[in-house]
Amino acid sequence: MFEPPKYKYMPDNIPSRPEVRGLEPKKIVELLLGALADEFLAYHQYILTAYALKGPLSEELSEVFKTIAEDELKDHFHKLANRLQDFDVDIPDFRDLWSLSHCKQARLPSDPYDVDGWLRAGLEAEECAIKYYRSIYDTVKDKDPVTEEIIEEILADEVEHYTLFKNLISKTGK
Ligand SMILES: [Fe+2]
Ligand SMILES: [Fe+2]
Repeated sequence: MFEPPKYKYMPDNIPSRPEVRGLEPKKIVELLLGALADEFLAYHQYILTAYALKGPLSEELSEVFKTIAEDELKDHFHKLANRLQDFDVDIPDFRDLWSLSHCKQARLPSDPYDVDGWLRAGLEAEECAIKYYRSIYDTVKDKDPVTEEIIEEILADEVEHYTLFKNLISKTGK
């Protein structure tokens, strides 16, 4: 089978930035790429969930998962991709996304009717995202104010997603 060569998305030299102080640009890029890959995988998990889940509540829940999936891709992914452009870094090759990803993928239920299982997988993904963004925030704080602001905004959204899933689990009542 034909394997296309990988697109070179990393520059040979990552440029330094005037707004960054006391932090290697390479470190910032590494953290941003991990988060970018996570967002892509989160989008995938939620859109998969939206189409896969079955049962009496599936229509409403499918809409919830689609909306959150859009947040991950249209908002978070693009915020991170735009910041990476400041370091001359493009979108990674599709084949590298899994290894770059920090959170990978949560355990998905084998039974499409296991609504709580789908919600728990979402909760697990958000929990990992919150921990990871929290650690990025701690690393860039006061050193890279631009990345700091982006991470703070995304982190607040992940907290909302987490709460939403958590509340839905108790509502479905298992
Ligand atoms: Fe996200
Ligand atoms: Fe999220």
